[in-house]
Amino acid sequence: MTDTSYRFTHAITRKPASSIVQGLRAVDIGTPDLTLMQAHHADYIAALRSTGAEVIELDALEDFPDSVFVEDTALCLPKGAIIMRPGAPSRLGEAAEMAPHLEALYGLVARIEGPGFIEGGDILTTESEILVGRSARTDAAGIAELAHIVSGWGYRLREVETPPGVLHFKTDCSLLDGQTILSTPRLAASGCFEGYTVLHTAEGEEACANAIRFNDLVLMPAGFPQTERRLRDAGFELRVIGNSECAKLDGGMSCLSLRFSPPQ
Ligand code: GLY
Repeated sequence: MTDTSYRFTHAITRKPASSIVQGLRAVDIGTPDLTLMQAHHADYIAALRSTGAEVIELDALEDFPDSVFVEDTALCLPKGAIIMRPGAPSRLGEAAEMAPHLEALYGLVARIEGPGFIEGGDILTTESEILVGRSARTDAAGIAELAHIVSGWGYRLREVETPPGVLHFKTDCSLLDGQTILSTPRLAASGCFEGYTVLHTAEGEEACANAIRFNDLVLMPAGFPQTERRLRDAGFELRVIGNSECAKLDGGMSCLSLRFSPPQ
């Protein structure tokens, strides 16, 4: 099977909890409005479903304010799923909440047991490799444990650096197709995408680097017209989704789902 890095039969999302107002954020730029976030979330799920995929919507978890950002809890690959070990103490328990849902689809799942930490937002899977950015949430021990698991499944993992002060590696980049990456200029300048075709976010629009390719669509956050034009000009079919409330918590398009094709 080809294009497994962006063609998926399934996605998992989780409803935002009313505790989202206590969600983690690097800088306080305002309290998220739950009602508006729910509306954006519904648009996001509708876009995923419009590609023909099955979207499993999990119930809100009030005990975990950031639990709408399900991507950080697991890495789903064609050969298996791995439960992560989030580096934010308030998010550690989210991973265990995800495990039974992936076990139901994959059978057995692997787990990052620790002592290291790793969050899904730091992992970009392309057709040829798995890039993992070291960050404040993902450390060397977490990456080493993941590398051990996926090498047994035949995948190549490469450790890279998340730019300083940036939450996750994928805060600054996204996969657009098997060989094309949308990146902020600051991340691309590190050289980590050598060999790929890189499209830069427009100046002042770095906050839209976190997009997702999902089947035929690219989902990107609203409010970034120059980058939107670049992507349309490059031939991508876009769906623009409101993200103002998740952005207050440093969340974006990738954070809101796990995307995968479970074994048949
Ligand atoms: N608010 C998302 C995170 O910090 O993990």
